[in-house]
Amino acid sequence: MKVFNDVKEMQNWCLDKKRQGQKIGLIPTMGYLHAGHLSLVKEAGQHCDIVVVSIFVNPIQFGPNEDFDSYPRDVESDRKKLEEEKVDAIFAPSVRDMYREGYNSWVELKGEITSKLCGGSREGHFKGVTTVVSKLFNICQPDMAFFGQKDAQQVMIIEKMVQELNFPITIVRVPIKREADGLAMSSRNVYLDEEQRQQALALSRSLQEARRLAESGVVNVARLKQAIREMIAAAPQANIDYVEIYDANDLGDVEEITGRVLIALAVKFGNTRLIDNLIVEV
Ligand code: PAJ
Repeated sequence: MKVFNDVKEMQNWCLDKKRQGQKIGLIPTMGYLHAGHLSLVKEAGQHCDIVVVSIFVNPIQFGPNEDFDSYPRDVESDRKKLEEEKVDAIFAPSVRDMYREGYNSWVELKGEITSKLCGGSREGHFKGVTTVVSKLFNICQPDMAFFGQKDAQQVMIIEKMVQELNFPITIVRVPIKREADGLAMSSRNVYLDEEQRQQALALSRSLQEARRLAESGVVNVARLKQAIREMIAAAPQANIDYVEIYDANDLGDVEEITGRVLIALAVKFGNTRLIDNLIVEV
């Protein structure tokens, strides 16, 4: 397994593999890898000749009061996990190499798809994501790139960006990987103390309950959102950021569940902000 820290070296290696006719799969990550990330790696292995995992805690997608400095990092453990998965290359650039002095180029999607949900509570976040992902695409030259449904809004935005900016890349969505008790895996779960870890089950449980309600005929979105809020509020340390239900294709508003909808939650436990979601089709 190769490890590249240098942008130019990574790009030259990928361009070379492409010239040899190899199909490259890219999994962009911020590291501190867990089984959710590894499910993306496994999926890439099924489709591509060369699997590249990028590990880069991207400063420009964190707000000034967010956890960029404290975001968990463990490069050595990440390296071992990826070695076991038979990944071909890790790309772990420095912030200085990715954003040279005076850096000022941005890729930004406008509109509802970026202003709702996490775009509403994390200003500038998606502009940072689309910019870094575009850079990673240009550096690693993937034929396919793999993203988790865990960040449902993120993958929708990436798909739209790829389509609108004509990146010749297939985006693959990978389902949410959960702990045995239902908690969606996340690098941020390590922040939770035992009590919060238990209470955090309110997210996945309320989503399951909302699906059950919708399937039993409760299709009014306001009622469903209220039911979810009540279930989450029963966890004493839970602080709801948002509970929303939108059209799963474009995040358009819906009043009643008719087609495919995305139920999306963001809830804080102390300083730890967790997200989860479920697509429901009635
Ligand atoms: P990160 O949070 O490290 O996630 C990297 C990828 O792993 C994302 O596509 C995310 O959706 C996926 N992922 C995380 N937890 C998952 C789970 N439980 N099940 C399935 N997939 C999961 O998302 C980012 O990094 C960054 O925003 C990035 C795209 C790398 C840009 O900086």
